[in-house]
Amino acid sequence: MRTRITLLVTLILSMLALSACGGAAGPATGSTVKIAILAPLSGDVRTFGESTRDGALLAIEEWNENGGVNGVTIETVIEDSQCSAEAAVSAANKVIEQDGVKFIIGEVCSSASIPISEVVGAKGDVLQISPTSTNPSVTVNEDGTTKPMVFRACFIDPFQGAVAAAFARQNLNAQTAAVFLDQGNDYVRGLAEVFIAEFEADGGQVVVRETYTGDDQDFSAILAITRDANPDVLYLPDYYSTVNLIAAQAQERGIEAALLGGDGWDSPDLDTSVVEGGYFTNHFSPDDTRQVVQDFVQKYEAAYGSTPDALAALAYDAATVLLMSMEAAGTTTDAAAVADTMRTGTWSVVSADISFDEFHNPVKAAVVLKVEGGQIVYTDSVAP
Ligand code: PHE
Repeated sequence: MRTRITLLVTLILSMLALSACGGAAGPATGSTVKIAILAPLSGDVRTFGESTRDGALLAIEEWNENGGVNGVTIETVIEDSQCSAEAAVSAANKVIEQDGVKFIIGEVCSSASIPISEVVGAKGDVLQISPTSTNPSVTVNEDGTTKPMVFRACFIDPFQGAVAAAFARQNLNAQTAAVFLDQGNDYVRGLAEVFIAEFEADGGQVVVRETYTGDDQDFSAILAITRDANPDVLYLPDYYSTVNLIAAQAQERGIEAALLGGDGWDSPDLDTSVVEGGYFTNHFSPDDTRQVVQDFVQKYEAAYGSTPDALAALAYDAATVLLMSMEAAGTTTDAAAVADTMRTGTWSVVSADISFDEFHNPVKAAVVLKVEGGQIVYTDSVAP
């Protein structure tokens, strides 16, 4: 009985809604698709989220100006998922359950993207594309199978860590290395492990391997060990906020090792005065002379008055790959069909011509950047 009344009320309400807009509520023109952007917009790594949001919005606005996806206007739902597992899971559930979203761009941080991929896996009809999460487990289950609805627009850490180790050995001529890692952070731990394995496989020696936790502020104990060991390089594969703390304390203690890091250093808030002379691997350099990159840099600067970082570029790319896949699949509602199209196509975007391997990872080059005179300078590109 209650169901029948609810049905009746729904029917009346929808008739009222129809007549309110002149009865012209056809499915094609005037329809919209919601896309969620989940990124850390507060806390320690908020520049990651701001760049990600701005990059994705730039792509979406361009598509809307050109008529949307096959005439369907794109709406965005933006949530602060805080680079944390808990916040990311509630943001994902919120956009799926309350907003009816079928397409998620995000998260930035691997430790947040992995739990979102589990939510998406349980739903089955929602697609996730992370612009920047580099840990292998984002797209791959523990049993080695690929998560059918999860993709990323970046390379993965087994490649990034190998590029860093090879750079340390060959370009910096490093014989010895110290590595600091936060065991509780999937990205940091994963990248550190790859670096250690590759550096040693290439004949180098890892003389210090020390762990800390995400809450640590005082690194004096592990820095004292490092000073005694006097390594050629100190690898810090964490986000800029933690790198700023560790590097400042390393400088105070007179540690002379060359500092080396990963994409997590990429932020306007990286304290260049404490990592001066250091190097980090990354996805993108605004100094790349390719026309497609320069066009993007110009558009981004015109829109936001700042130079895009890798997060902005990859969010722009992730959004573009998603929208191109929807357009090619001819649907803005069937996420599984969009995933099938995404999986098999080649998508020409800013950072690369992206096509996915069997694990939904694009095969792309890395760049090595140097902190020099307070600036971030392009030094090298490394193809896979
Ligand atoms: N790769 C990082 C992660 O997986 C995120 C990141 C990418 C941060 C690019 C900065 C720049 O957690």
